[in-house]
Amino acid sequence: MLAGKRILLIIGGGIAAYKSLELIRLYQKAGASVVPVLTRAAEQFVTPLSASALAGEKVYRDLFDLTDEAEMGHIELSRAADLVVVAPATADLMAKMAGGLANDLASTLLMATDKRVLIAPAMNVRMWDHAATRRNLATLLSDGVLTVGPDEGDMACGEFGFGRMAEPPAIVAATEAAFGGEALSGPLSGRHVLVTSGPTHEPIDPVRYIANRSSGAQGSAIGGALARLGARVSFVTGPTAIAPPHGVEVIAVETAAEMLAAVEGALPADAAVFAAAVADWRVLRESTSKVKKAPGEGPPPLELAENPDILASVARRNETRPTLVVGFAAETDDVIANATAKRARKGCDWILANDVSPGTGIMGGSENAVTLITEAGAESWPRMGKVAVAERLAARIAAALGEVAA
Ligand code: CTP
Repeated sequence: MLAGKRILLIIGGGIAAYKSLELIRLYQKAGASVVPVLTRAAEQFVTPLSASALAGEKVYRDLFDLTDEAEMGHIELSRAADLVVVAPATADLMAKMAGGLANDLASTLLMATDKRVLIAPAMNVRMWDHAATRRNLATLLSDGVLTVGPDEGDMACGEFGFGRMAEPPAIVAATEAAFGGEALSGPLSGRHVLVTSGPTHEPIDPVRYIANRSSGAQGSAIGGALARLGARVSFVTGPTAIAPPHGVEVIAVETAAEMLAAVEGALPADAAVFAAAVADWRVLRESTSKVKKAPGEGPPPLELAENPDILASVARRNETRPTLVVGFAAETDDVIANATAKRARKGCDWILANDVSPGTGIMGGSENAVTLITEAGAESWPRMGKVAVAERLAARIAAALGEVAA
């Protein structure tokens, strides 16, 4: 899948940089060519000579190198690649990318490129958890930057947690997915999976609407993970700032009613995952003109009507009920008890329950801590990145459908 591809590999200055040498080797084994770019800080961890020797290519390091600019200017360098990979993506590099800085070769290439960018973050757990990194990551995701990792584990600094760079084989797999070479022969090939994602917007008048805080990050990660396992994915999404996953069919909607119609239109499916945060209510009589403030009259009364429950309506179908129906339960209290009751009430097979209390940082964050509730009981998964949750769920769906003939 990577044969003949040209990858611009930006190596940031972190202890994980040594793994990038292994990454160069794996890319080459897969038939890709690698042009390495080292930041000043990266040179403290790996030498330009080793990167160049492994890549069999010139290593680029300086924005103002006259020889390099004469041979291939930085704009050309940023465009000659098929994909830009940043590994390790340090907190500093992520901040520069999110802020649009261009004060060295690496950051300038990242600003100048017209190609997709995949980052493999690596940093200390505190730095990963820092509010600034959270903000930067959210910005990068909404800019359409692809991410892989980080993993949880022991760190070079002696601490434990999220921040270890993804292992080189995982970065290669993410690179293949970025090329849209989703594993057509994966365990979900021949399967159709429906995913709902994001919030819904329920109009009050032409300029105002009711919505919620869903970013769509978890639903998007699930759509991408299912596609990487070979599924044909119908991805029904409410309005979000996040780029939809690669390799799915995107059906963009605004309201719950539109989402229900899109879901019905996409059936039949082998499995359906309802990750959308559907507004429970809509305004009964949407005003076609802007509601004005009238002096002395106070706020306008808003009469609400209940929205259709999309998950329940699909789970309760006799015909065209997907074999596996998965819902989410975003709760703030008695998470497992509420989610178990919700599973029974809505008639779905599995529920992924999560605690979205303000202190958890899950709503709008990049991590999730879920409990999978099935007929067999509750299974709590450790807190992990939303992409990791998605990959685990996709693997479970593949295993469950694998037991049913295609
Ligand atoms: N859901 C749906 N259609 C709705 C409301 C919810 O498809 N109108 C789906 C969501 O996508 C999610 C699950 O139902 O998979 C749970 O949604 P949640 O909002 O947590 O549950 P509610 O039904 O709103 O229950 P409650 O307000 O009591 O928490």
